Amino acid sequence: MTTRKRSSSSRRSAAPRFTVPGIAIKDAQKLIDLLQMRLVALTDLAMTLKHIHWNVIGPNFIAVHTMLDPQVDEILPMVDAIAERIATLGGEPNGLPGGLVATRTWDDYDVGRANAIEHLGALDMVYQGVNEDHRAAVDAVEDLDLVTQDMLIGQLERLELFHWFVRGHLESMDGSLITEGAKTEAGAQRKVRQARKKA
Ligand SMILES: [Fe+2]
Repeated sequence: MTTRKRSSSSRRSAAPRFTVPGIAIKDAQKLIDLLQMRLVALTDLAMTLKHIHWNVIGPNFIAVHTMLDPQVDEILPMVDAIAERIATLGGEPNGLPGGLVATRTWDDYDVGRANAIEHLGALDMVYQGVNEDHRAAVDAVEDLDLVTQDMLIGQLERLELFHWFVRGHLESMDGSLITEGAKTEAGAQRKVRQARKKA
């Protein structure tokens, strides 16, 4: 890939000139903008899962390493479905890295090589944010487009299941999470370390 000083990938896409029958252009624009954020969030999630897959270490390495790829294998088709819904609605999906970084409202996942449970503590925070926003998107399209809503609901069911797979590793006998109260990925990592010291 050649190096370019400026990238056009972060520009806002043009307003739709057409959309599906029965939806007003202004509503299509709202749907496209909302779906673009979900495209960015799920692309970021898939890349974050691969980052963990590559950087996880320790006694639970293989369990966590192999748990994450099937999640990526389901999330990438979700990104594709969202992008194709944007195009179907008359929009211009953008999955380029520059656009992703310019659009997102959060920072990169901030844990590198680390113990499996520390990563899962941080990943719990990631799923917390992504799934909360996906659920908000489901609510936001309620009066705009039930077809888009149906797609998002189906995705959310799987994303919430994956979140449970992560949390299952963090659950204590009393049903609480060992990372309870953590607000950031690094904070969750610290809580896991503290819990391990106490054990
Ligand atoms: Fe791999």
